[in-house]
Amino acid sequence: MKTELVISSDESPLTLHRYPRRKNETLQAFDAADEYIIEHANTWQLEAGNRVLILNDQFGALSCWACSQGYDVIQISDSVVSQQATLANLRQNQLPDITLLKSTEPLPKQFDAVIMRVPKSSKMLAWQLQQLASVTTPATRILAGDKAKAIHTSTLNQFEHWLGATTTSLAKKKARLIFSTANALPQQPTEPLSYVDVPEFSMRLANWPNVFSAKKLDIAAYLMLPQIPSSDEEKNILDLGCGNGVLALQAARNNPKAYIYAVDESHMAVASAQHNLESHDIDSQRFQCEARDCLTDFNHTDIDLVLCNPPFHQQQTITDHIAWQMFCDAKRVLTTNGALLVIGNRHLGYHTKLKRLFGNVTVVASNKKFVILKAVNAQF
Ligand SMILES: C[S@@+](CC[C@H](N)C(=O)[O-])C[C@H]1O[C@@H](n2cnc3c(N)ncnc32)[C@H](O)[C@@H]1O
Repeated sequence: MKTELVISSDESPLTLHRYPRRKNETLQAFDAADEYIIEHANTWQLEAGNRVLILNDQFGALSCWACSQGYDVIQISDSVVSQQATLANLRQNQLPDITLLKSTEPLPKQFDAVIMRVPKSSKMLAWQLQQLASVTTPATRILAGDKAKAIHTSTLNQFEHWLGATTTSLAKKKARLIFSTANALPQQPTEPLSYVDVPEFSMRLANWPNVFSAKKLDIAAYLMLPQIPSSDEEKNILDLGCGNGVLALQAARNNPKAYIYAVDESHMAVASAQHNLESHDIDSQRFQCEARDCLTDFNHTDIDLVLCNPPFHQQQTITDHIAWQMFCDAKRVLTTNGALLVIGNRHLGYHTKLKRLFGNVTVVASNKKFVILKAVNAQF
């Protein structure tokens, strides 16, 4: 695994790590698309102090490069993990901090250049391009890049539609670049929120564009809903990896005296959960929605129930390390006899992981594909 990103023959390489740092990490913090973007952007010969907007930087490679060139860097991202990675990598390379914006914030104006990693979700791409159209001019350099296999004709059509004239590069190490000029006529703006109805549970869930399963309710979430416990006692319940807050909402309804925490690393997920709890008349004194990397710096230890439908991706990579971090963090914040309720695909083997961590695990419900497991933070 390489940690040194070579910028040019006369500059020192950048040292870059994923976040959080893990022992025996096998995955790189930058890829061929980052390298290709930097190689092209180096030919622009921008001046120190020029304003560069960076969207969707994965672990901060692009931001560290731009910062190392003396540009005024503004990074916008949906991911707390990406932003923490960026800060850690800036420090690692003795570079100054940059401006970090949440994906739900409006874009500032007047950039000399815009650099984008193409987001995975086409809804997110449309939303970001629409926003870019309102803050760029034909003079703004606009460069995007990704794995070649992730750039389709429909991707290029979106750039043409929202921004204007668009061309692509040849593929290099399986990465491709997109070049656009912001010269299109203004298009009809769209709203960021889309809605999913769940009539069986009397829910209408709003989703910001980058939210997990924004087009329809996730099947695992749907199976989890009837298994969420009910109580009239005062309890603290936490939805870990809350997405649009569907589990938090049902927990709030089933437990009218409970305080609800909803945590996700995606700013758009957190904004959606906040919106959905409010729009379903959950008293705002009863809940808190927060962007965090799992439960890092979450200092409560009085949680009675953690609900978790864990992710199995980080960026484009399939991994179970986030689920494991979530289980470990859940154990740390649970009261004695507090419980963790987890849903997962059978093949992911969460049963073994929970047994190892908690010393106990029971199957609450299952079907051919999914299993819902409960682990209790028992006192030994
Ligand atoms: C499978 S989705 C579940 C969403 C929602 N709870 C549901 O059931 O529909 C997993 C969620 O975990 C979030 N996530 C991924 N990595 C995370 C991390 N390091 N810390 C907190 N949340 C994370 C994702 O953004 C995503 O919303």
